Amino acid sequence: MTGPPRITESVSRAAEVLLNGGIIGMPTETVYGLAACALDERAVNRVFTTKGRPKNHPLIVHLASLEQCMDWGVFSTSAIALGNAFWPGPLTLLVERTELVPNWVTGNRDTVALRVPQHEATLELLRQVNTGVVAPSANKFGRVSPTTALHVLSDLGDDVDLILDGGSCEFGIESTIVECIGSEIRILRPGAITASDIFDVLGDSPALDSTDSRAPGMLASHYSPVARVVLCETPEQAENLSAQSEMQGVKTRMLWHEDAGEYAERLYSDLRAADEESCEIVFAVLPEADGIGVAIRDRLTKAAHHA
Ligand code: TXA
Ligand code: MG
Repeated sequence: MTGPPRITESVSRAAEVLLNGGIIGMPTETVYGLAACALDERAVNRVFTTKGRPKNHPLIVHLASLEQCMDWGVFSTSAIALGNAFWPGPLTLLVERTELVPNWVTGNRDTVALRVPQHEATLELLRQVNTGVVAPSANKFGRVSPTTALHVLSDLGDDVDLILDGGSCEFGIESTIVECIGSEIRILRPGAITASDIFDVLGDSPALDSTDSRAPGMLASHYSPVARVVLCETPEQAENLSAQSEMQGVKTRMLWHEDAGEYAERLYSDLRAADEESCEIVFAVLPEADGIGVAIRDRLTKAAHHA
């Protein structure tokens, strides 16, 4: 549709493709998204078909500022406080939608997920298009999220019109989703913004509720590489199991970084590398359930679940 080059660093070119009804790979600080203008029903439909994602799984709308988000959602005092504290940043707020938000974005729900990403090129892109942009992670449905432009190219190839290259993603794990409706504050998906970060702003501890009915698309079998993922409690346990398997001629890989931030940042590219090396088993060490470790444990547990 747009001709070469398929990967670009030009924000204005990416904006032009979006405004002409195209779909693009879009960098953020968490993972790369598959972006389309939210009000363009045809383009949003293409996002669903390209990902192979069920139509009733609602999408996150990305905007350039809290002020713009307030045209799309109804913000309580707590939602405003969280937006002010963490945007731009790896937080998605689930709020009641306004009349502006079409059904094809929310899967007919009366809520909408909104986020202001913390990525210079993408913020500039959002300012240029000056409207909401939907962006689910730019992987095929159920697979590992992409954290580089090349990951998007290898997953979606010719199905996207353009990929905006914004380098590799700083956090490497999807945004924290917080439901913020009335006085109810719930974390639906853990991420880099933690329960204690939220407590610091609101003085209240949010509940954790990542059941699929609240945020469809969080099925246990998500984020799966081809290799089997086996969860381990310690690096020693992973090393031992890995050595035993290798002795039987099974190709394995160990997943572990002492620093939880680095673990998150490299998690998805490490899982992809295991598949590229045709590993049969990945022995993944669960980090402590603290800070971003909670989100890593959530994703690893899902990656380990083979439906
Ligand atoms: O970090 C991120 O959030 C990335 C980047 C690209 O921004 N995006 C992302 O989108 O992870 P996606 O579509 O892979 O995950 C969005 C999740 C889905 O599980 C979806 O069900 C939930 O958000 N969600 C979106 N709108 C919702 C709504 N109105 N009600 C309940 N859940 C919603
Ligand atoms: Mg996803």
